Amino acid sequence: MPSAIAQSHPNIAFIKYWGNRDDLLRIPSNNSISMNLDGLSTQTQVTFDSSQASDELILNSAPVQGPALKRVMVFLDLVRQMAELQLFARVESQNNFPMGAGIASSASAFAALALAASAAAGLKLSEKDLSRLARGGSGSACRSIPGGFVEWQAGQDDDTSYATSIAPPEHWSLVDCIAIVSQEHKATGSAQGQALAHTSPLQAPRLADAPRRLEICRQAILDRDFSAFAEVVEQDSNLMHAVMMTAVPPLFYWQPATLEVIQTVINWRKDGLQVCYTIDAGPNVHVLCLEQHTNPVKESLEQLPGVEKVLIARPGGAARLL
Ligand code: DP6
Repeated sequence: MPSAIAQSHPNIAFIKYWGNRDDLLRIPSNNSISMNLDGLSTQTQVTFDSSQASDELILNSAPVQGPALKRVMVFLDLVRQMAELQLFARVESQNNFPMGAGIASSASAFAALALAASAAAGLKLSEKDLSRLARGGSGSACRSIPGGFVEWQAGQDDDTSYATSIAPPEHWSLVDCIAIVSQEHKATGSAQGQALAHTSPLQAPRLADAPRRLEICRQAILDRDFSAFAEVVEQDSNLMHAVMMTAVPPLFYWQPATLEVIQTVINWRKDGLQVCYTIDAGPNVHVLCLEQHTNPVKESLEQLPGVEKVLIARPGGAARLL
């Protein structure tokens, strides 16, 4: 029975992906930049087995049915087609972090699945082709294939849309202190939200300005320039959430505690601390700081009434086979 196990990290976007030019192929409307999150991981085993009557998904030891299984089956069809394979698969996956709460679990899920399924099917894919494959499962998953700090080139079509590393994990000791304000599964998944992006009158100006933000962010990472980084990362996150809130129908991912953390981080920076925030499609706040400030930032975040706990993640490596 051909089987393989892969591990990958979720990633946090500094310049966000929100809206596709082609929803089916997940060709995004703009490039995005992210960092893989070490310490948080997904481990997935894929076994193609002639005794399976259909594809099976077991997530954190519990069998999964419905839309999540369907999404995995559609993805496995892609791999079967590429490998000219007819067997069904058993997919067993474990996450060591809360799912569906703004820590892109779909990113690490489909990055690990792309690697494990392609290896189990006997395909030996390049990093580019793995990233393209993972993109088919979830857009942000293509950024969890390469290591460290990553840019996803939007491209024009299936062949040209994939992610590459812009700096290895050890390039910059940036730390993501993830303030968990809620562990509930979000009401509107990002795939549904992405499809609404074009209904906001703010999406067009957000996209028109994206090359400027990408350039500033990429250069700030290469120069390890925290001040330039902080300003553009917060602005990009605010722009994406403005698009979400002005879509038809509107999407509100924030909770009261989300705004409390935002305002606290802004005040800390005014007081001279090198810290900034970014928020994905959920209520939790990713508070970014430098290694030497990790403990005080973590402890201060834990004191805030709306914060349940704080997860710490440093720059993570590429997806890999175990
Ligand atoms: C807000 O990659 O989860 O985290 O392609 O529909 O699976 P699908 O969307 P997904 O969207 C991620 C959105 C985001 C921003 C980002 O990670 O760039």
